[in-house]
Amino acid sequence: MGKSAQIINLPKFLDSRGNLSFVEQLNHIPFEIKRTYWIYDVPGGENRGGHAFKQNEEFIVALSGAFDVVVDDGLEKKLFTLNRSYYGLYVPAGLWREMENFSTNSVALEFGSIHYDENDYVRDYQDYLKMKKDGTI
Ligand code: TYD
Repeated sequence: MGKSAQIINLPKFLDSRGNLSFVEQLNHIPFEIKRTYWIYDVPGGENRGGHAFKQNEEFIVALSGAFDVVVDDGLEKKLFTLNRSYYGLYVPAGLWREMENFSTNSVALEFGSIHYDENDYVRDYQDYLKMKKDGTI
């Protein structure tokens, strides 16, 4: 059994001036951060992120707005709703995941454990299931 995805509650400082949250690598984020990217201006009804990573671990925060992340290990799908900027979703390598239901003006901030590498992606779901079956992911 591989590791499973989980919501990590981030620190939050709430006061009358507004709110502050933060993340630290190897603390809230359980890996060294090699890359940070963000997804924004997603048109209504669009889905993103239909793929698995062979090596890359990721950590996703809904900095603004809300969206769902569906994580699938080939047997079971789990839906995580990210709708607070003090929730992080840790997604270990080797899981298929999709992002959907983006609210207007939502911003997804993503941290990755490796530099961008197209060869690390599995973008075909049937290929993913095959790889799960033969243990290559
Ligand atoms: P893609 O992985 O298809 O987005 P999503 O995860 O939402 O499915 O990435 C879209 C494009 O951006 C693709 O051409 C690759 C490029 N890209 C980079 O160059 N560097 C990156 O770190 C990422 C995440 C994507």
